[in-house]
Amino acid sequence: MARILLKNLRKMYDDTEAVRGIDLEIPHNEFLALVGPSGCGKSTTLRMIAGLESITSGEVIIGDRVVNTDQPKDRDIAMVFQNYALYPHMTVYQNMSFGLRLKRVAKAQIHARVLEAAEILNITELLQRRPKQLSGGQRQRVAMGRSIVRNPQAFLFDEPLSNLDAKLRVQMRTQIKKLHQKMKTTVIYVTHDQVEAMTLADRIVVMNGGRIEQVDTPQNMYDHPTTKFVAGFIGSPAMNMIACTLERRSGALVARLGNGLDLEVPTDRTEKYTDYTEKPMIFGIRPEHITEKRAHVNAAQRDFSEIVRVLEPMGVDTMVFLEINGEEVSARAAPHSVNRVGEAMEFTIDLSKMHLIDPTSDRVI
Ligand SMILES: Nc1ncnc2c1ncn2[C@@H]1O[C@H](COP(=O)(O)OP(=O)(O)O)[C@@H](O)[C@H]1O
Ligand SMILES: [Mg+2]
Repeated sequence: MARILLKNLRKMYDDTEAVRGIDLEIPHNEFLALVGPSGCGKSTTLRMIAGLESITSGEVIIGDRVVNTDQPKDRDIAMVFQNYALYPHMTVYQNMSFGLRLKRVAKAQIHARVLEAAEILNITELLQRRPKQLSGGQRQRVAMGRSIVRNPQAFLFDEPLSNLDAKLRVQMRTQIKKLHQKMKTTVIYVTHDQVEAMTLADRIVVMNGGRIEQVDTPQNMYDHPTTKFVAGFIGSPAMNMIACTLERRSGALVARLGNGLDLEVPTDRTEKYTDYTEKPMIFGIRPEHITEKRAHVNAAQRDFSEIVRVLEPMGVDTMVFLEINGEEVSARAAPHSVNRVGEAMEFTIDLSKMHLIDPTSDRVI
């Protein structure tokens, strides 16, 4: 069990810079999720930590040791991939113990470790089965079991659940979280799925184009994204972004969103936003902060009326799509509060949850 430290880590593939200088410290026992769109450099970063990819420049430190040139087997970390090849002719027990047998670990010790790992993974009753007698989720657990028995310093996961169907993915997600709570080990978990990252991780790293956009706890990342990219990437349905300008009106700031929708910005934001008046800006608000009209519980709530364009009932609430200044905007309303498509509806928007994005820097102000 060890901390992992990345110092200005870079990777060039010929002319492409896949990873452009990553600095990151993953403390002992942390569950860290690396998330970002396809091609942003997640797998390359993970593979450099594992030793499966050479490092162009920078350092990978595991524990107190620089491991840049160490062979993967000498780094004492376990990697679990999306495609987990189990040996089809071996039982679960044999699959899990194979690596230890190769290392000539004593039989009694192998037995104890396999039983312990099987217990943790809830697969004790499957130990004598062969892979083809297992479901996808059970196979995935066996693949993890194979890593657990080695008792590695850290686990690296690269999209381990991508091949599973939606329901199983959610079940395995909980399994992996439980596993981490039991095992107390350092985990780096790569996924393109922001929900997986949010639900699993102690901290999330959002990557984009080979760089880190933001490192934060899931809730902070959601509540306080620092860039336009993170604001749009984390959260589903995505944050609404509407072109706006801020105007000063008798001491107050007003966000003009078009369609005649002028919203007075909360006074505690006036100072922070004052340099951005009369400039093209982007107004960001999450769907759940636009609801059916409600009694106000804070001074930053405003009401407005818009035509309902599309309704999507989700059971617990209903997504209401409207159009503001030609842009699609989603709201989250109580199921029985919505009007019919084509009719006007009253909404309450909570501006204490607004984000103001500067399109020249793509930073959240
Ligand atoms: N072996 C390789 N040779 C050349 N380019 C590669 C290689 N592996 C990955 N890349 C490129 O590096 C970038 C990052 O890839 P990768 O780390 O696999 O992204 P992710 O895992 O985030 O989807 C991509 O542009 C990809 O095309
Ligand atoms: Mg990848």
